[in-house]
Amino acid sequence: MDLIKALNNRYATKKFDATKKLSQDIVEQLIEAARLTPTSYGLQLMKLVVVENPKLREELVSASYGQNQVKDSSHLFVLCREENVTKDHIESYMSNIAGTRSVEIEKLNPFKNAIEQAVLPKTDEEKSDWMGRQVYIALGNLLTSCAILGVDSCPMEGFVPDEYDRILDLKSKGLKSVLVVPVGYRASDDFNAQNKKVRRDSADFLVRI
Ligand SMILES: Cc1cc2nc3c(=O)[nH]c(=O)nc-3n(C[C@H](O)[C@H](O)[C@H](O)COP(=O)(O)O)c2cc1C
Repeated sequence: MDLIKALNNRYATKKFDATKKLSQDIVEQLIEAARLTPTSYGLQLMKLVVVENPKLREELVSASYGQNQVKDSSHLFVLCREENVTKDHIESYMSNIAGTRSVEIEKLNPFKNAIEQAVLPKTDEEKSDWMGRQVYIALGNLLTSCAILGVDSCPMEGFVPDEYDRILDLKSKGLKSVLVVPVGYRASDDFNAQNKKVRRDSADFLVRI
């Protein structure tokens, strides 16, 4: 697999072929790639919502400034953060570590205290920014994974998060939408597939010190 070739082949897909569906195996790999995203302290204050209901996907178009990718793609991923970060999240993470690595939970107290002291005093805005930034790491992971698997995708910030939260009833799940990623296969007449990549050239991008 040629990594750079795969990354050049990926592009922000503006028009998906609504008749082409991803295999379940590919979808599972993409979900797993998102789940394996590294996060600060490993807390994973995020969830991946896969919207399967076609009616809801139709409804999301107007909450996405008319971008049809959200209904025409094979699958629609909505990357979400937790609404709040609480002591409970930190405790359940400690239980996960203790169970997964077979360590006594009390041994994790210094780590737990360090996380609590660093995270809990943050303001609500700092907490939401911090959690949101980590969702962008999942976005990068997903986009690269799509490229490697030959799947087309479109990273999207062009949507109204409050509208998504309402339509998908994310509040009841304690979640806030951060990013949207339709995935599938490009339509043969997607104009953007022919556009050359525009990037800073290396001399303008790279700083060697
Ligand atoms: C965080 C983020 C948000 C974006 N939001 C949108 C969007 O809402 N709709 C869209 O069509 N493209 C969106 N894009 C695509 C960018 O415009 C595109 O990635 C950029 O121009 C580079 O082109 P390429 O991805 O085709 O290489 C977004 C990209 C990123 C990384």
